Amino acid sequence: MSAPENVTLTIDGRVVEVPKGTGLVETAAVAGIEIPVFCYEPRLGPPVGACRMCLVEVEGIPKLQAGCTLTAQEGMVVGTGATSEKAAEGQNATLEFILVNHPLDCPVCDKGGECPLQDLTFRYGPGQTRMTFPKRTLDKPIPISPTIALDRERCILCYRCTRFSESVAEDGQLVARNRGSMSMIATFEDEPYRDLFSGNVIELCPVGALTSTQYRFEARPWEIQNVPTICGLCPVGCNISATTREGKVKRILSRNHPEVDQGWLCDKGRFAYPHLYAEDRIATPLERVRRRGFGEISWDDGLDRAEALLRGAGGRIVTALSGSETIEEAYALGRLLRVGLGAHSAVLPEATSSALDAFRAPLSSIGHAEVVVVIGEERVADRAPIVGLWIKQARRNGGDVVELAEPKLDAELEQRLRSSDRAVLIWSGRAGGGGARLAELAHSLGFDGKPGCSAFHLPATPNGRGVAEAWAAAADRDEANPEPIGLLIVSGDEAAADPAVRALAEKAEHVLAITMYHGLAVGWADLVLPATSYLERDGSFVNLEGRVQRLRRSVIPPVPDELGWISKLAARFGVEISPHASLVFAELAETVYGGEASFGDVGERAPLPARAAYEPPEPRPVAPIPPPAAAPAEHFLGTLRLLRYRPLFSGPTVERVPELRFQRPAAEVELAAADAERRQIRNGDSVTVRSESILTLRARIDRRLPPGVARIAEEHARDLGTTVEVSRSSNPFTSAGGERA
Ligand code: SF4
Ligand code: SF4
Ligand code: FES
Repeated sequence: MSAPENVTLTIDGRVVEVPKGTGLVETAAVAGIEIPVFCYEPRLGPPVGACRMCLVEVEGIPKLQAGCTLTAQEGMVVGTGATSEKAAEGQNATLEFILVNHPLDCPVCDKGGECPLQDLTFRYGPGQTRMTFPKRTLDKPIPISPTIALDRERCILCYRCTRFSESVAEDGQLVARNRGSMSMIATFEDEPYRDLFSGNVIELCPVGALTSTQYRFEARPWEIQNVPTICGLCPVGCNISATTREGKVKRILSRNHPEVDQGWLCDKGRFAYPHLYAEDRIATPLERVRRRGFGEISWDDGLDRAEALLRGAGGRIVTALSGSETIEEAYALGRLLRVGLGAHSAVLPEATSSALDAFRAPLSSIGHAEVVVVIGEERVADRAPIVGLWIKQARRNGGDVVELAEPKLDAELEQRLRSSDRAVLIWSGRAGGGGARLAELAHSLGFDGKPGCSAFHLPATPNGRGVAEAWAAAADRDEANPEPIGLLIVSGDEAAADPAVRALAEKAEHVLAITMYHGLAVGWADLVLPATSYLERDGSFVNLEGRVQRLRRSVIPPVPDELGWISKLAARFGVEISPHASLVFAELAETVYGGEASFGDVGERAPLPARAAYEPPEPRPVAPIPPPAAAPAEHFLGTLRLLRYRPLFSGPTVERVPELRFQRPAAEVELAAADAERRQIRNGDSVTVRSESILTLRARIDRRLPPGVARIAEEHARDLGTTVEVSRSSNPFTSAGGERA
């Protein structure tokens, strides 16, 4: 590709050279000059020139121009409001016009103090108002969803929100209604704004028209701190700022890592923080007391009981990790159990194979791909929502997106992938060996030598790979399954939701649960040690790209953090582990991350490690891959393979946030069109699902699902077996929560 042609132009008397076609706003920034904007936001697509805040004078053009719509051209001479009286006058008039109907309620507006309109009015606007008439008032606030409020009279009609809805999330739910002075933002047909990414419009809105119902009237900008950290709710690892006030998290904002998240967050990551303050949060260790349930005990007693359980198990210990632990915690736990106690066995979360490091690229590369192949039966949005946005971007940029249930390519597609320099493979679902098969496929397609071709596996947990690597690094010894199990350690309610862990709990003599809530694991536990959230810990996560990112403690947790008490417990078994994440990380970095590294090296925007050479993964026992989806010819009125999945809006955090309830999926069974047709089932029908128990669910037909499969969310499928029979129910569907017959 030839280098772009450079052009030289003058802005406010400064000569600047940039590639031809660079936007004028960016060109001015290169020269250290600000062109103020409201509606301009390059992430939303081409400029729309709606607000006129960016007016500039261009030599040779009689009228003022919207700077955001111009690009750098050779010899251009531009004057911004700083040097051009005409441009300054235009901007002043623009602001006066915007403020004609904008309420001056800054003292009570949540945006006040961090509001672009307020800031630009101070710098570019009229010093006083000439408006003597009463301003327009409208009904307010309008709850466009349980998480977003709209104050229409503050809206300056920049269309950032509608452009996001239409061109980024592609949900089409926010629209501009009416025309001219009667224009207003509304949801389509006044339905609640229900989309995975709806909360981004709050951050995009340059005024206080769209606000978070969780944050309204909770804090003023001068009272808050923003802690740069990472979202720990899925393997994307979006970069976030946790806004805190007086030791409490009050909101989550994006912190734009252009290679990871482009500044977008899903609503789970944005709105789930109240899980920290759930009523059933466990604040002290609990010990099972016969006939009386649980008794609270002190931390000293809790550690004594934990020590007794560990010693009593005689090494017959199994640890179920959830993939939400930091790598430092997983390593510390591994050292305690595997070095201090000789305990061998672990149920590890699904991790991404290191073989995929040979096809590593930033997630942003998906957005520029010419062909994206998504393999697997699970929705990308359930496993890694932001990846779904990158795929949409690829499609908007002209790329083709192909969805396959299995990694079987026809000759034409295979040829296309081989000849492309910008092809991406994405595996969404259970992948044998954590994506090792995907790596083999990428290798066979010749992706190794092509930096623009990449392969991603979307694991089910936020830090599965980091946890597995840290656990492996903790001790060098063979694994062996104890029989019978003396002690099962369940780390997190996510691990407890795994049917395999539940089966182990039924067999174990004792169970130690490390959990935040009175959830599933507590039901089996002899001892409960309270856990902390990703917002309360220091440490690191490895995201699905293989990027090591740093979590920073945003608020002090109400309980000691895991690393602290694991370190104390380990000392009782003669194992030295630092209680400080930075020191544990340094120890781990030597063995796992290729040499000395410190938290400081990770930084606030973590870099992506370089690609590794492809090495075929060592054959090792892996969880069997589900049988192929194709079912026997006579399956259609027989059984279907049950595919359990975790919807994005599920799990212990989401369940504890009332504002997110409306996002939770209905109790549904999803069927392939052919299977539904053979059973005379239509979308929305009430159906009976039979297996070891019987459920009534609503049917949804998913045309991308292969025949022979019934997909049901894990929370509804708990009591079902591996295969199910599905038939139309005679009774109409009555409950959104699913009914047990
Ligand atoms: S609600 Fe906010 S983002 Fe949407 S058009 Fe109005 S000012 Fe712009
Ligand atoms: S996409 Fe994942 S990491 Fe990003 S905000 Fe949502 S849950 Fe958090
Ligand atoms: S920023 Fe240029 S018209 Fe709005």
